[in-house]
Amino acid sequence: MRIGIIGAGNVGTTLGRGWLGRGHEVVFGLRDLGAERLAKLRAAAGEGARGADPAGAAAGAEVVVVATPWGAARAAIDGAGDLAGKVLLDCTNPLRGDLGGLELGLATSGGEQLAGWAPEARVVKIFNTTGVETMADPRYPDGAAAMFYCGDDADAKRTAASLAADLGFEPIDAGPLSRARLLEPLALLWIRLAIEGGSRGLAFRLMRR
Ligand SMILES: NC(=O)c1ccc[n+]([C@@H]2O[C@H](COP(=O)([O-])OP(=O)(O)OC[C@H]3O[C@@H](n4cnc5c(N)ncnc54)[C@H](OP(=O)(O)O)[C@@H]3O)[C@@H](O)[C@H]2O)c1
Repeated sequence: MRIGIIGAGNVGTTLGRGWLGRGHEVVFGLRDLGAERLAKLRAAAGEGARGADPAGAAAGAEVVVVATPWGAARAAIDGAGDLAGKVLLDCTNPLRGDLGGLELGLATSGGEQLAGWAPEARVVKIFNTTGVETMADPRYPDGAAAMFYCGDDADAKRTAASLAADLGFEPIDAGPLSRARLLEPLALLWIRLAIEGGSRGLAFRLMRR
């Protein structure tokens, strides 16, 4: 699958490295294409990592990942060019700067706002409820970490779930995109537990009977 990743920081390069290792074609959308930035990209995402400008990374991709800080998400969407029909994976969390709360929520969500900025894309909220260490390796002694996702397009959700499963997650369909109102506060819970517990080595898992 051809994947364009806008936001080549912790989340973007961790996801990209995982997908590159599983045979996907990944292009990172960078604001700076200088030699130093490209070397930093390869150090984080692997020697096979390729960079392009954000619109170039999105242009050939079936799946576009938004992994920027929330405050840059609108600019990232605007800079990604024509997203019509593409699967748009939203990994952002609308966090307040002090990580003590969300900028918005419960009556709407970052995922829904982002969908409003890219109305012709097929948005799935995913990869926002755990840390990058778990994205790099979702296996825990009790089993695979859960990866909750939500969206309004069934086919886009299947694609998102299969990309999560490729990384080793147990994908869990959380319903329509409005469930991002629940997944974003869940991310905040993960952050509080990680900070207060002094470890980022934790992830959510769903048990059933
Ligand atoms: N870190 C985690 O464990 C984690 C887990 C789940 C979700 N999240 C969420 O995922 C998002 C990314 O987090 P992160 O930790 O990966 O952040 P990060 O390491 O700071 O990386 C953010 C990246 O976004 C890029 N960027 C900023 N504005 C851009 C624009 N207009 N166009 C293209 N790229 C742009 C930055 O580019 P430069 O390299 O040019 O500065 C940087 O590479 C956040 O919304 C965060 O809440 C994070």
